[in-house]
Amino acid sequence: MPEALLSLRGVEAAYGPVAVLHGIDIDVGADEVVCLLGGNAAGKTTTMKTIIGVQPTTAGTLTYDGTEITGMSPPDIVGRGIAIVPEGRRIFPRLSVQENLDLGAYDRTDGRAAIHADLEKIFGLFPRLAERRTQQGGTLSGGEQQMLAIGRALMARPRLLLMDEPSMGLAPALVDQVFEIIADIHASGTAIFLVEQNARMALEVASRGYVLQQGRVVVEGTSAELLASDAIAEAYLGGH
Ligand SMILES: Nc1ncnc2c1ncn2[C@@H]1O[C@H](COP(=O)(O)OP(=O)(O)O)[C@@H](O)[C@H]1O
Ligand SMILES: [Mg+2]
Repeated sequence: MPEALLSLRGVEAAYGPVAVLHGIDIDVGADEVVCLLGGNAAGKTTTMKTIIGVQPTTAGTLTYDGTEITGMSPPDIVGRGIAIVPEGRRIFPRLSVQENLDLGAYDRTDGRAAIHADLEKIFGLFPRLAERRTQQGGTLSGGEQQMLAIGRALMARPRLLLMDEPSMGLAPALVDQVFEIIADIHASGTAIFLVEQNARMALEVASRGYVLQQGRVVVEGTSAELLASDAIAEAYLGGH
């Protein structure tokens, strides 16, 4: 693989005395969709939090775009071009759809016209948000809130988008739509690091994947390799 956009090397993290990540190595290339699979409590969200700087690491290094970002503050990391769609679609319920999207762009310095153009692009991608642009975020359906969370992250114009279980709790038709949107975002030139419990769909959109178990990467490979693996099939795909 060419030099990765994001690299984790030997990353460890802990909550108080409890170690949760035990030295993980992950790479995401600039033109890739990479997925992180694993059961509940494997450490997937913690991995995302270490990348965005919300969770300090206790060992190891994180490198983004050739610069070590280990220990940087979340705003510094976001300012370098990483955005996150957090677990559980955390939007601002009292703010309108448009205000939520505007907040995604708070860090941009390229001017109102460019931001406005992107806002219209997001409304083009999510017509249901366009129809509801003055409605309070908290009054949207679960699926619409997920679209809003994705739209807000895109408003930062990230080079790398982190997505933590974007399909969780959505009806099957909406899950399909979320995966179509992931493919669209990738096609427009954004690298994606995707945490999913929906392993089969994640491996369809991703080119490579890692499986995390109790804070360790236990399997990694191309999506084709992981889809063909009996161990993965048994643990995550409901058998072959
Ligand atoms: N804020 C926290 N304080 C203490 N323990 C936590 C906290 N967040 C997560 N954990 C623990 O860390 C482990 C990994 O959690 P998490 O990264 O959320 O897993 P996943 O996203 O794979 O379900 C779990 O055992 C969880 O209970
Ligand atoms: Mg999680």
